[in-house]
Amino acid sequence: MKLRTHRCGELNASHVGKTVVLNGWVQRRRDHGTVIFIDLRDRTGLTQVVFNAERNPDVHRAAHALRSECVVSVTGQVMARPDESKNPHLSTGEVEIFVDDVEVLNEAKTPPFLIEDDAEVTEAVRLKYRYLDLRRPRMQRLLALRHAITQATRSYLNAQGFLEVETPMLTKSTPEGARDYLVPSRVNPGQFFALPQSPQLFKQILMVGGVDRYYQIARCFRDEDLRNDRQPEFTQIDLEMSFVDREQVMTLMEQMIVTVFREAGGVNLPTPFPRMTYAEAIGRYGSDKPDLRFEMPLYDVTAFAAASEFKVFKDAATKGGIVKALIVKGGAAMARSRIDALAETAKSFGAKGLAWLKITGEGQLESVIAKFLDAKAFGTALPEAKPGDLVLFGADKPAVVHDVLGRIRLLLGEELHLIETSAWRPVWITEFPLLDYSPEEKRYVFMHNPFAAPMDEDLKLLDSEPLKVRAKAYDMVLNGNEIGGGSIRNHRSDIQMRILDLLGIDKDQAHAKFGFLLDALEYGAPPHGGIAFGLDRLIMLLGAAESIRDVIAFPKTQRAQCPLTDAPSAVSPDQLKELRIKLDLVE
Ligand code: AMO
Ligand code: AMP
Repeated sequence: MKLRTHRCGELNASHVGKTVVLNGWVQRRRDHGTVIFIDLRDRTGLTQVVFNAERNPDVHRAAHALRSECVVSVTGQVMARPDESKNPHLSTGEVEIFVDDVEVLNEAKTPPFLIEDDAEVTEAVRLKYRYLDLRRPRMQRLLALRHAITQATRSYLNAQGFLEVETPMLTKSTPEGARDYLVPSRVNPGQFFALPQSPQLFKQILMVGGVDRYYQIARCFRDEDLRNDRQPEFTQIDLEMSFVDREQVMTLMEQMIVTVFREAGGVNLPTPFPRMTYAEAIGRYGSDKPDLRFEMPLYDVTAFAAASEFKVFKDAATKGGIVKALIVKGGAAMARSRIDALAETAKSFGAKGLAWLKITGEGQLESVIAKFLDAKAFGTALPEAKPGDLVLFGADKPAVVHDVLGRIRLLLGEELHLIETSAWRPVWITEFPLLDYSPEEKRYVFMHNPFAAPMDEDLKLLDSEPLKVRAKAYDMVLNGNEIGGGSIRNHRSDIQMRILDLLGIDKDQAHAKFGFLLDALEYGAPPHGGIAFGLDRLIMLLGAAESIRDVIAFPKTQRAQCPLTDAPSAVSPDQLKELRIKLDLVE
């Protein structure tokens, strides 16, 4: 094989006259009789290659055999294209290669889809033939972006004195709240490793170990229901710092994300990132990851509702619930059928209904519930609603109202094109509750993870009103996506034990699950805290990818399978026997 002198995306007018060797794949062949053109492709782009019967009859004859995706080495002369055939959309569009020698390095079967960005192909086929899918320019661009982001992250953190440390994959379960992937141990029959849901425990131990500043581009495994932005196996930019407070972690991380977005993606994020407490985010946007690319807030009209004659409102407002409203600007023109469909959607989100009214003129309301409402009192309660607007209401327990209206807000934002799609709107969410109450399990559960420290001023509430205790936790949210989250940790074992106790994890359980961390905390653990960013989600956002699967070289499907390798798959009876595992597959 003749070794290449250049890449396929590299040649331009400055190379005219040179003899070059290119190696690559045949993108397509066009046969014009005495002249045959092929586009030769590699990771860097395409070059037009010309086989001219008059210049060289042997290579022209050989060109007939070149099929899409066969691998060739061509040697030839760089020529300027005539003006009328220059292609300004191609980096090599000013030139073409007149071939003097061609060698077929490998044949290719006809690929099941065209190696082009807009090829019509299902995701199942793309994943089965991932090696072909990866040849497409868009996938190459996303892989390169992934690389650029990890490199920019590493160089930023290296400059800040962080050490990159690897933590084990075969380990004990970490309590991040999902189901574990388990790995049986052959030499310890009946015992299992868990693949880490995050390096959480180890990074805290590294702080006790005096590492001071740790990071890792860490693989995490979580057996949970998959969505467009979730994979069973995903990557975090994970880090932890000693002798820091919340402010320091947040400032440094904001700088890191700003630097990475600028260096890897050419995006300038607006700084400083605004901050919002969890309570504000939920109250105003119905979500702890608000999309701030459009406004459309939730308005509290509970007092108005309590005084109204509409039973649904009155009951909610007087029985510990709330009533909140969304204003759809100009929405009075919306068809009744569309509003009814929205109400159905609200029900599918868990609401009992979605009351609405149209403001048809000054002090004029149109609605099936208008007769129960005092137009004047409404005008005073919600002066932001103007003639021509539609107002939607949720009346229920706060959690239901916020969740449902928050989701309706997003849906309308998209449908009515209210979202400024080119904007970048980062925001820090702070002061998360430490605990939540799970009615199903009838116990407190952690909001972030069991190691987040309570806010100093709330420590006194730990025994009396645990649900009011806020944590020193923070999430970074970008355009409605949770891209990272972390906290200052409990570095003292007495406070950590009290919190585990609240979570219903007693001493024995705690020691069985993560006794090694609790022990470590007793040997001079420094105050510490950290954060982890979802690397795949960062790439998705910066690369405008539609699915998390597009930014991972070899992802899993929504059913947690890999169509390329057919994993997971059955194993031989011998393997099971060695592991002392018997299957019980009867439903
Ligand atoms: P958390 O569980 O919030 O925190 O995870 C941190 C970030 O990881 C991303 N992420 C995911 N990305 C893709 N697929 C998934 N299944 C998935 N799950 C989470 C999100 C999220 O913000 N140990 C703590 C961090 C800490 O406290 O320092 C942790 O894992 O972007
Ligand atoms: P009803 O009294 O059930 O006929 O409902 C009248 C209107 O109130 C309908 O538009 C319902 O969708 C709406 N509605 C019913 N329950 C609720 C609720 N909990 N929150 C908001 N709207 C509701």
